[in-house]
Amino acid sequence: MEKKIGIIGSGNVGIALANGLQRHGYQIMVGTNDAAKHDTIREKTKGNAAIGSFEETARFSDLLILAVKGTVAEEALTRAGISNLAGKTVLDATNPIAEGPPTNGVLPFFTSLDESLMERLQGLVPQAHFVKCFSCVGNALMVDPDFGGQKPSMFICGNNEEAKKQTTALLEEIGWEAEDMGKVEAARAIEPLCMLWCIPGINSGKWRHAFKLLK
Ligand SMILES: NC(=O)c1ccc[n+]([C@@H]2O[C@H](COP(=O)([O-])OP(=O)(O)OC[C@H]3O[C@@H](n4cnc5c(N)ncnc54)[C@H](OP(=O)(O)O)[C@@H]3O)[C@@H](O)[C@H]2O)c1
Repeated sequence: MEKKIGIIGSGNVGIALANGLQRHGYQIMVGTNDAAKHDTIREKTKGNAAIGSFEETARFSDLLILAVKGTVAEEALTRAGISNLAGKTVLDATNPIAEGPPTNGVLPFFTSLDESLMERLQGLVPQAHFVKCFSCVGNALMVDPDFGGQKPSMFICGNNEEAKKQTTALLEEIGWEAEDMGKVEAARAIEPLCMLWCIPGINSGKWRHAFKLLK
């Protein structure tokens, strides 16, 4: 497993993954295009992660994580440089959350059930190997989730089998059971799990749960 991971995005997800993966021995670069955020990122990662632009982060490693606001995900990939993503595994943590308030706890999405955000991203960069990952759990639980010894399920999907194997190995290392739902279109089912996951949080302030596929 490659020990370098570039994270495109410096929000709560980017920082949580940077700190969590660094504990597992990964060398991390966090990407932001806002130079004013460098000091805050350095502080939040205790100086343990390199910081670069989206483009520098995309060049940094063959394993990338996309963790930007869903509405700007396509723009972020363009800024990272389409050619810098070719042949790389991109774990896609984004969700297509639309602007606007939730309705009784249900977040609005800008996609339909017939098209996911990850399909748009895969269409924009056909040479990259997108794997949906981390999208249906809160950032605080993404690395080493503690459910009293029970491993939660991370639903993944994507077109490239090697990229999914790489993702599965990483997930196992950080305390998850990967559940491969198939090709990129399965993101139409995985992305809305974010809506479901957020309902107890928005309605009742409960954010410490995860999904488990019982078999
Ligand atoms: N928060 C969670 O617990 C959670 C859990 C699962 C999935 N997700 C998904 O993960 C993604 C990241 O979420 P987040 O909570 O970490 O933070 P976020 O606020 O959704 O995203 C932060 C990142 O988005 C970038 N960004 C924001 N506006 C931009 C714009 N106009 N143009 C270019 N880049 C822009 C920022 O780039 P700069 O650094 O350059 O400003 C920043 O790095 C989202 O898609 C979210 O739905 C979140």
